[in-house]
Amino acid sequence: MQKLVIEGGKMLCGELKTQGAKNAVLPVMAAAVLCKGVSVLDNCPSITDSYCAVRIINCLGMKAIQSGGNCTIDAAVLDDNPTIPDRLMREMRSSIIFMGTLLGRIGRCNLYYPGGCDLGPHPIDMHISSLKRMGAQIEDEGEKITCCAPNGLHGCSIALSFPSVGATENIILAAVCAEGETVISNAAREPEICCMADFLRQCGAVIKGDGSGRIVIEGVEELKQPEGEVFGIYPDRIAAATYIACVASAGGEMLLTDCTPCHLEGVIPIFEQMGCYIKAFGSNIYIHKRDTLTAVDTIRTMVYPGFPTDVQAIVMAPLCTARGTTVFVENIFENRYRHTLGLCRMGADIKAEGKVAVVSGVKKLHGAKMDAPNLRGGAGLVTAALGAEGTSEIASTEYIDRGYENIEGNLTALGAKIRRISSG
Ligand code: EPZ
Repeated sequence: MQKLVIEGGKMLCGELKTQGAKNAVLPVMAAAVLCKGVSVLDNCPSITDSYCAVRIINCLGMKAIQSGGNCTIDAAVLDDNPTIPDRLMREMRSSIIFMGTLLGRIGRCNLYYPGGCDLGPHPIDMHISSLKRMGAQIEDEGEKITCCAPNGLHGCSIALSFPSVGATENIILAAVCAEGETVISNAAREPEICCMADFLRQCGAVIKGDGSGRIVIEGVEELKQPEGEVFGIYPDRIAAATYIACVASAGGEMLLTDCTPCHLEGVIPIFEQMGCYIKAFGSNIYIHKRDTLTAVDTIRTMVYPGFPTDVQAIVMAPLCTARGTTVFVENIFENRYRHTLGLCRMGADIKAEGKVAVVSGVKKLHGAKMDAPNLRGGAGLVTAALGAEGTSEIASTEYIDRGYENIEGNLTALGAKIRRISSG
């Protein structure tokens, strides 16, 4: 067990390179399983979720190694009857996208319900019904899911009832080597889908329309990354938003490099409304926070390009000490206000019920002992602690480590007083 100990009230100042995106590297690694050969990726984040994907690939009989930002996946040979054990499935939600990729590659797999952060009920009905339409037979025996496609997968038209990121990824992974054309309507438009599609195209897949609500995939015989090519994982827009929020909370200025500002179009205006100075140029974002923040118009989480649910807890942190009241409406997940408990411990005034949280700005927050309730909630608490008076301790750092590479190192380099200690 580890804790992050943060002495708040230190201004941040400096330059930071944006890490590779967690939610892009995981589907790209799953996509590499479709390639009959070696795939080389770079800009992979050193986070526990990507190491979990590496372990899943290795346990299926293939060879994956991640060292720093580089990952090599040799998917030439894999088990005849691939099974992902319960313990690996439970480590993260995105383990479920191996269902589409394994059905696409070998026509069968056995797996369990995925785990991950507890954000409320998280059904996989759209994943299952879509793959069934493509010819998969899927038996759901409570915990265990047995899948096979005795006659192979075939293309079809799939209209999603909600633009689920994971279901869109699973369908694309199943469709790229299926027979014929697959059309997904009401598809998720998140940049991480485009990242996976870019990798698949590099390997010979035919995919059109990613980034829009209608994606068309024409099945091909075989996928392979051309020799000598390396695929770069997109920058992490959520980690970028997190470090911007850290500056908004603690004060100071930062140049965030190697990011894609247009992926943050739903987020940057919120920081500007708060009173931060933000300038995006090329692949950089500069942020400067000097004065007291002001509350912003209602923040409603939406699918991309709207305000991301993953940034809700993170942006709430600086708004706890803004002048005025900010209302949040969480539209994507049912149970995504658990961080408000920790924020209230630090002295925040937040009333959360159902989908809505009302944050009334207080003069300042004070240090407290808290538990990270999940990945982004934990990041929100770190963000708040940086701006609070006194020392905070944030336990359950394993949630934060699932998505943030070297968070204490990055913040220390920016001037924060933060260290990791082992506890109990
Ligand atoms: C992805 O999760 C991200 N994870 C999440 O990031 C992110 O919060 C989420 O998209 C929304 O943007 C990864 O990419 C690995 P969804 P995913 O399927 O794909 C419902 C983080 O902190 N739904 O778009 O699991 C579901 O219950 C994480 O980095 C169904 O009802 O999200 C939820 O309410 C957490 N049936 C909504 O759709 C289904 O079959 C959105 O889920 C599938 C989803």
